[in-house]
Amino acid sequence: MEPWIERGTEVVMHTYNRFPLVIEKGEGVYVWDQKGKKYLDFVAGIAVNSLGCNHSTFIENMVEQLHKINHCSNLYWNIPQIELAELLVTKSCFDKVFFCNSGAEAIEAALKLARKYGKKVHGADCVEIIAMEQSFHGRTLGAITATGQIKYQKDLAPLLPGILHVPYNNIEALRSAVTEHTCAILLEPIQGEGGIHPADLAYLQSVRQLCSEKNILLMFDEVQCGIGRTGKLFGYEVYGIEPDVIALAKGLGGGFPIGAMMAVQKAADAFMPGDHASTFGGNPLACTAGKVVLQELVERGLLEQVQKNSVYLKERLLDLKESCTLIQDVRGIGLMMGIELNMPVGTIIQKCMEKGLLLVGAGTHTIRFVPPLVINEKEIEEGIQILRSVLKEEAQ
Ligand SMILES: Cc1ncc(COP(=O)(O)O)c(C=O)c1O
Repeated sequence: MEPWIERGTEVVMHTYNRFPLVIEKGEGVYVWDQKGKKYLDFVAGIAVNSLGCNHSTFIENMVEQLHKINHCSNLYWNIPQIELAELLVTKSCFDKVFFCNSGAEAIEAALKLARKYGKKVHGADCVEIIAMEQSFHGRTLGAITATGQIKYQKDLAPLLPGILHVPYNNIEALRSAVTEHTCAILLEPIQGEGGIHPADLAYLQSVRQLCSEKNILLMFDEVQCGIGRTGKLFGYEVYGIEPDVIALAKGLGGGFPIGAMMAVQKAADAFMPGDHASTFGGNPLACTAGKVVLQELVERGLLEQVQKNSVYLKERLLDLKESCTLIQDVRGIGLMMGIELNMPVGTIIQKCMEKGLLLVGAGTHTIRFVPPLVINEKEIEEGIQILRSVLKEEAQ
């Protein structure tokens, strides 16, 4: 076994099935292992490294901030936190931000806010949250309860009471599940881990209408599809539908851990001082990272670049489908695409890795494409060529 992997296996808890690959450094959309082998990275830390690796503006700003202050707690204010909150609020439909450190934490914050809102507006019994089958919301007990896939919940019972699941993209099922105990509906506008399934526009429109009629919160989990991945800053903008609450993480920090839960004023008002907190939430370094990512997207043309390049990626994947019978479907929005195969994707991903292309699955039969948002056409083409050659070999 590779010595680093042997050392890691000795001391790191065995919660992941990892590839035998030690990644040491990166530049743009490429990463290198410790032996110097180069890989084109279509995983980006699972939709995290928005600006790729070794991005000069990102590094300059982070180093500058490190020289100022690394952490100061929410006993006090810090400037990057205020600036990032201003940016997020100005560019979205939300009024307030709560900062945390990960996607699951953003979901936890949303679940707590939903309960507080339900009790405040509709009374003590209004505590139920409806989530979707095949969803993924993270690994804390609350987030895993909201996750609509039994495989992640194995041996963890008892889970949180008051969270139920209905089929995704099915408005009738949702309507019949809503009762006077419902305080919120939680969904991913594009299901990620569940296999890259975008919501239907008419469905989301009806869900929005239902939530408004009943005065319950519409909560979008945009941990994976938010922050530029769809070509819009937020996934909800693609649909023209505004949720009341959103969970963000992954791409927001461009590789530095940060999460955020945002809410419209009427929902945000349900949280009072002391109701929720995080030691690291809104840390000045994490917020500096978030600021740089947002500035690149909004002020320096990265969103437009994503829009342009995602059209190209989709075209190339559709071309690939034409020539490869293993591909059943091409789905997704922006730089969050998936191809569904008529076979499990494990060996394809493994062989692509051997040929220098990193890919990640979403469910058993779907390969996911979530490259750094800075990827260009030439790099997309390079990845497609490697994938094409592997699929061709497999089809033979
Ligand atoms: C949609 C969605 N929500 C929540 C999470 C959990 O995020 P984290 O791993 O940062 O806790 C993920 C992670 O994959 C996700 O894709």
